[in-house]
Amino acid sequence: MTKPNEGLCRFRVGPGGRLTGQLRVPGDKSISHRAVMLAALAEGTTDIRGLLEGEDVLATLAAFRALGINARGSTHGRLVIEGRGLQGLRAPLEPFYLGNSGTAMRLLCGLLAGQRFDSVLTGDASLSRRPMRRVTEPLLRMGARVATSATGTAPLHIKGGQVLHGLHYEMPVASAQVKSCLLLAGLYAKGETCVIESVLSRDHTERMLTAFGYEIGCRTGRVCLHGGGRLCAMPLLVIPADISSAAFFLVGASIAPGSDLYLTEVGLNPTRTGVIAILKRMGADIEVLDKRWIAGEPVADLRVRYAALHGTHITPEMVPAAIDEFPALFVAAACAEGETLLQGAEELRVKESDRIAAMAAGLQALGVTAEPQVDGIRIIGGTLHGGRIDAHGDHRIAMAFAMAALRADAEIVIDDCSNVATSFPNFVELATRAGLGIRAEIADA
Ligand code: S3P
Repeated sequence: MTKPNEGLCRFRVGPGGRLTGQLRVPGDKSISHRAVMLAALAEGTTDIRGLLEGEDVLATLAAFRALGINARGSTHGRLVIEGRGLQGLRAPLEPFYLGNSGTAMRLLCGLLAGQRFDSVLTGDASLSRRPMRRVTEPLLRMGARVATSATGTAPLHIKGGQVLHGLHYEMPVASAQVKSCLLLAGLYAKGETCVIESVLSRDHTERMLTAFGYEIGCRTGRVCLHGGGRLCAMPLLVIPADISSAAFFLVGASIAPGSDLYLTEVGLNPTRTGVIAILKRMGADIEVLDKRWIAGEPVADLRVRYAALHGTHITPEMVPAAIDEFPALFVAAACAEGETLLQGAEELRVKESDRIAAMAAGLQALGVTAEPQVDGIRIIGGTLHGGRIDAHGDHRIAMAFAMAALRADAEIVIDDCSNVATSFPNFVELATRAGLGIRAEIADA
């Protein structure tokens, strides 16, 4: 088990400016995790291009190497994985350290519950606070043996050698991590595993299982598979640019007068495009150009230009398709005319940080009216001042406030930004190239 020992990072972002030019943000994080996992479980060699080389995905990759998988790379997003088949993983020698990554922990938990050997999953302070019973409880019902801490958090101790049986599970919360965990466990279960969801969460696992030749039954709100099948390697698996990373630039260009920015090859899976829909409702000028398909996922180039935004009402059913983009959307709301109200988003409180509390505190520090509510927030758009923000080690809080500087009247200083490397390692470089006056520095303490 290794723990990174990095200095804390701070962003200093000068006020004003505009975003222009063309850029491709890194590969989709959700798809990258799944690409590594399914390629490792497939029979044959999969050549992955466009992999996100962020810390979260690298934690997943390290876990599979510890499970005996031979993977060459990754360099410039290229990773070649020699899959060993569903029964080909080897017992790890030590606990897995999964850093900040909820996706790695929850998906691996399902996959490892079906192995012959024991394993232990650990993570950083943030991941060790996040709720894990949402995956362990249904896994126990499948016959798995997984123990959490007394408060339902990591470390997770998984006892191998259990006989799993299929489960029909109605999801109490919209969660692709829970759904994917159960589907991965279902690959090892006797009989049929079905996951039923009333609000659709992202469906990358279903799409990728199909792309790897695994038969699954899908109709709206229900996905089923039988255990005991086989995954066949994909000769070439190209990963689209991450709409969740593009979101910071969509917001930045929308709020900064004079902006005109192209974002290329952005994944537009319909379970992920809430940020575009919400920004458009707010009056944003976003054009979707050259829609096409790569590896079973729709992609397009996006052109975004400055527009005067107005507040909007975001209702609960709109939340899952924009779940990771709310920090950026709150910044858009702070720059919009009038009130924005978000409801039905209590899940934001159990992300890498409590994103409702962290964003409300940060917006207030910049002089914006932001009232946190149990399941959302109310924001009144207005003038943004400079100020000092605590990102709480949450990558998306840090990047959202970096973009806020485009409309602030003085410098914004953001503390605790190291985890930007979990999802967007070259954020500072790309943001600088687009026109943001951002500097990263090592904090003294
Ligand atoms: C993810 C699903 C979402 C999302 C997370 C990535 C995934 O979490 O917030 O960043 O890759 O499956 P939930 O499934 O918990 O909503």
